[in-house]
Amino acid sequence: HVLLGVLGDPIKHSKSPLMHKIALQAAGIEGNFVPLHVKPDQLEDAVKGIRALHFRGVNVTIPHKVEVMKYLDEIDEGARLIGAVNTIVNDNGRLKGYNTDGIGYVRSLKEETSVELKGVRIAVLGAGGAARGVIHALLEEQPESVIILNRTRDKAELLAEEWTTEAIPVTGYSNDEAKNVLATVDVLINTTSVGMSPLSDELPLETSLIPEGTIVSDLIYNPLETRLLRESREHRGCIVHGGLGMFVYQGAVAFEYFTGVTPAVDQMRAAVL
Ligand code: ATR
Repeated sequence: HVLLGVLGDPIKHSKSPLMHKIALQAAGIEGNFVPLHVKPDQLEDAVKGIRALHFRGVNVTIPHKVEVMKYLDEIDEGARLIGAVNTIVNDNGRLKGYNTDGIGYVRSLKEETSVELKGVRIAVLGAGGAARGVIHALLEEQPESVIILNRTRDKAELLAEEWTTEAIPVTGYSNDEAKNVLATVDVLINTTSVGMSPLSDELPLETSLIPEGTIVSDLIYNPLETRLLRESREHRGCIVHGGLGMFVYQGAVAFEYFTGVTPAVDQMRAAVL
């Protein structure tokens, strides 16, 4: 019996239990996936509880992704570089933390748009935690370059300095510089919360600045199609990609770590929808 769960505060809204239970069922694995409401001051005890109760693994969500790292026995290299854990695997009492958000995002982008990321020029809007995971996974795909655009220029520059290499230059700019730097991008990704419900009429960037034919992607999945995506599609002839797939694939990759089985992604997506 495979016991799985998700730690968060709040947790009631989480679609992870539904999605993973469908995946367990489709894979013919006997088990359960439960929501675990954990307040920040109970996080350490909750992690001990994972061992004591023989959970095979848990997902970790807001607000625990960074804090939880100090209670684990081992951190995967990628999660360490990103600085956050969203998946914990329990191997006979030894807890290892992973981050499947960025990998999940890139899998979703590739599966759903058929984009070839090798050699392309990518622009990322935002320089927070979500951007870190996404940029880390994007660099594995060997794009030509990555530019980071952010409201606060300093944060974009710091993040860029951290990730840049001779092979793949990463550079940071402020949103005000978008006009000058976006002209040659192939893929544009919004990692900020601008455009998320209930403020879904907001734009993280003037869509007139987006080159025609760019692939435009948004990590937001509520609404399923943000104003950024709608306007890019309608006015700029862009191929657009919403954030639901990122949620589904971060869960799918976590499920693989928990069970060793590739889950039924389409059934997971249908359940969440
Ligand atoms: P997350 O983990 O979701 O990335 P975060 O680490 O708080 O959250 O980062 C939020 C990102 O969205 C930041 O890049 C932030 O810009 P600043 O660095 O200037 O704060 C960006 N962001 C949030 N609200 C924004 C807004 N109203 N306009 C523009 N950018 C915004």
